[in-house]
Amino acid sequence: MRELTIESILSRVDELPEVPQIAFKAIQLLNNPDTQVSHLAEVISSDQALTAKLLRLCNSAFYGLARKVTTISEAVMIVGFSSIKSLVLMITTQTTMNKGLLGYKIGPGEFWTHSIGAAEVSRVLGQMIDYPEPEECFIAGLIHDIGKMVLNQYALPEVYKATNLHLKSQIPLYEAEKAILGFDHAAIGGALTEQWNFPPVLVESIRRHHTFESYYENGVLHPLPLIVATANLLVDLFHEKGEARQKFLAHEALISEVLDIDEAYLPELLPDLQRRVEETSQLAMLIS
Ligand SMILES: [Fe+2]
Ligand SMILES: [Fe+2]
Repeated sequence: MRELTIESILSRVDELPEVPQIAFKAIQLLNNPDTQVSHLAEVISSDQALTAKLLRLCNSAFYGLARKVTTISEAVMIVGFSSIKSLVLMITTQTTMNKGLLGYKIGPGEFWTHSIGAAEVSRVLGQMIDYPEPEECFIAGLIHDIGKMVLNQYALPEVYKATNLHLKSQIPLYEAEKAILGFDHAAIGGALTEQWNFPPVLVESIRRHHTFESYYENGVLHPLPLIVATANLLVDLFHEKGEARQKFLAHEALISEVLDIDEAYLPELLPDLQRRVEETSQLAMLIS
């Protein structure tokens, strides 16, 4: 039997082959506060398909701009650096994330729907607590399950086994992964984004999205990992998943302390969140 470790798998993944280089270049530039609009526009404009889709989204009803933007420089100035970052990531990951993940018994479109839902709910939760960069929440939510894509591609037989164990024994999927592989999709997703030099708080948000383990930066609790972990549960609660409610209750004290959400507030909150997710999904539909 082959030995699979996080290291042995990641040594075979340079980048997920289907996530284009342009996304990484653009995200790196967007993460750098010294980046000039003109340089960013140049990088994005070198990819015609990305440019066309980005302009289509910026000109959609979602942004309600008074006049049409026709160049990337204009779009960056009017819609803003942070929103452009989310849009670029959404456009460049859509094709890959829209596919099914066979080993996890996730059908075409389902993974994308879950990821977009978690992204939008993370952004709303960020706005609710005045998080300084709600777009960062969106990005973290969008890629929180990226480890599933890696494992589905590089450890398919093990993923099958873990999924079957999860379905048969009712233990959570990430526990089943740990039982079969010794680690779960959150751990490998964290390791992968660390290898890609993503900011530590994004890496930790991916790594902790099932454990709810608090993350401190300079001695201060950072809310992003908790936002993503909670968003992941809330999107499952749209579909009345019992496992998600149990998990919510298990972490209710922390969620209520940091995000001011308790079980009694859910009937009021969930329909609002669903509406926001619906709007963002419609925006995402303009990409394909
Ligand atoms: Fe997950
Ligand atoms: Fe998830």
